[in-house]
Amino acid sequence: MERTPLIVGNWKMNGTITQTLLLINELLQMAQNLKDIDIVVAPPFTSLYSASIALQDSAIGLAAQNMFWEHEGAYTGEISGDFLKDIGCTYVLIGHSERRQYFGETDESVNKKIQMALGLELIPIFCLGETEAQREKKQTFDVIQEQLKIGLKNLHMNDFKNFVIAYEPIWAIGTGKNATSEQVEEVHSFIRNTLEKSFDAPMANGIRILYGGSVKPKNARELKQTKNVDGLLVGGASLKADQFIEIIKC
Ligand code: 13P
Repeated sequence: MERTPLIVGNWKMNGTITQTLLLINELLQMAQNLKDIDIVVAPPFTSLYSASIALQDSAIGLAAQNMFWEHEGAYTGEISGDFLKDIGCTYVLIGHSERRQYFGETDESVNKKIQMALGLELIPIFCLGETEAQREKKQTFDVIQEQLKIGLKNLHMNDFKNFVIAYEPIWAIGTGKNATSEQVEEVHSFIRNTLEKSFDAPMANGIRILYGGSVKPKNARELKQTKNVDGLLVGGASLKADQFIEIIKC
């Protein structure tokens, strides 16, 4: 099955509204003639609305970096998926390792957020991955299996029509350490096989699995050859328009 490549720029906690709009304008100019690829950017919450207006009628999609699992109410500081829909987001990152590491997110809370996103027809980009210690102890597959099992609990076949998974080994995020194409392929095919066992082959073959962790133009080129890599989730390098476009062009 043909899976359209998807490249997502996660801008993390970077950029005022002015900086976000500058970057978006550069990207819009550089990305004008790119075809057969989906491009999505994820600016911080405060820039989302301005970004949404700037991206209107463009081919670049908009993601939020997080959301809460309730529609509204007394949850000080939280943002609901309804609000994200309201301002034109189509995707939402869920369970990024930085959320798990610094803000106490668990597989269970990730599952609640995924269910809420799906109910609102926001496309979840479900992030998972192992720590360096887990990899050294050869627990990578067990960890990924558990994250999938709990993260996807109570989901049904129909939920995966618009669904993205992002494998981000924590030891490769922001560290400059690259997972090799072999390491990435091993985990991506494990994820696809696990999905096939839990659901079915067409579902598993249809889902896009992205890789993230110190992606730069050089390793993007290598990862392109990797069978089960359907795109990339790019952090640092997506903050520079020329680097991000170079990665996309790979
Ligand atoms: P870096 O590309 O900066 O390593 O970040 C990866 C990431 O966390 C994307 O979500």
